[in-house]
Amino acid sequence: MIKDKQIQIIETVFKNFQKQKNKTDADGITHIIDAGRYTSLERFEREKELIIKSHPIVVGATGQLQSNGDYFLHDLTGTPILIVKGKDGVVRAFLNMCRHRGVRLLEESEGKIKRNIVCPYHAWAYDTTGCLKAVFHEQGFDGVNAETHSLIELDCWVRLGMLFVVPNPELKGKFDIDDWLSEVYSITEDFEFGDLYPYHFTSETLDCNWKLVVDGALEGYHFKIAHANTIGKYFLDNLSLNMENKLHSTIVFPKRALEKMKELPETEWRLRQGANILIHIFPNTVILIEPDHIMVVSFVPIDEKTTQFYSFMLLPTEPQSQKDKDYWDLNAKIFWNAISEDNEMAVLQQKSFNGYSDTEMVVGSYEKLLVQFEILVDEMISP
Ligand code: FES
Ligand SMILES: [Fe+2]
Repeated sequence: MIKDKQIQIIETVFKNFQKQKNKTDADGITHIIDAGRYTSLERFEREKELIIKSHPIVVGATGQLQSNGDYFLHDLTGTPILIVKGKDGVVRAFLNMCRHRGVRLLEESEGKIKRNIVCPYHAWAYDTTGCLKAVFHEQGFDGVNAETHSLIELDCWVRLGMLFVVPNPELKGKFDIDDWLSEVYSITEDFEFGDLYPYHFTSETLDCNWKLVVDGALEGYHFKIAHANTIGKYFLDNLSLNMENKLHSTIVFPKRALEKMKELPETEWRLRQGANILIHIFPNTVILIEPDHIMVVSFVPIDEKTTQFYSFMLLPTEPQSQKDKDYWDLNAKIFWNAISEDNEMAVLQQKSFNGYSDTEMVVGSYEKLLVQFEILVDEMISP
């Protein structure tokens, strides 16, 4: 985000604050969202296939693959994905599936491939670039070679300290990732996203539809109430700013600390110091830019009523001492306490809708990013 834009945002917050008025974008329009969208199995299947498996999704952090041969597996989408840093230093993603008779090639969730990936069934071997290197008793397999039977590759990119993969191999080549992320770059360009160190991986299963947890991230209206005992007190009530977007949403959540910035000359205003900046990377990832680190959270739909939630921190450098670790662990704890409160609300919504889905949610203008997200989901799954 260019500095002028940061100053503009801070000025807007000050203006709203002075006027004792809540949010510039409160247009008073109320929207209605049907609850059935969170309980329908048929809709879930379309969302999983046409949204989650068909778009670049975050599968992990770049720093998980430090040296050539390092790999990890990602099975949450249902597609068995192997992400590996090749002997040539390039990160690629493949289906974790042998081209002979389909056996799962690697079972350990992470590790290092020394030379080749060798299938445990008949020892077909692939190198770390996915190339078929050896077929056991190859005279029995006419027409099978590296060109025809190397591993099935998926689109995979390293961007913003994260790894993006499109799980559906049939869509390989369809996405221009930089075009896809251009709205995100317009926010992140002024912040450090270089060589970030991933830390504190956490995962949890939630009894709710994945869209409910995304919805919860897209408004600050709940801060003062749902987070009353945790982070609520650090933020200015209901003064979050929504940024213009088509695909990926951005919200700036101003903290009380921002008020102090008023006393400083404009040249010293730093948005990141006085606000949390949340970017929803469509479809299922949220990143939170905090003053000295970044939190990444992804919500993977398991079924219509279950979501696997996973999160990691991106730190400027690897923690060197116990003191460093304690500092980041405390940050993680504060974040998790707040996120657990959000998750709990999503689970309570789901509980209600599981019992009675023939109802609607009323969504106010403060929550309009949520409406935009749900409309986008509808557009993407419509025939
Ligand atoms: S299934 Fe992999 S070598 Fe046979
Ligand atoms: Fe929240």
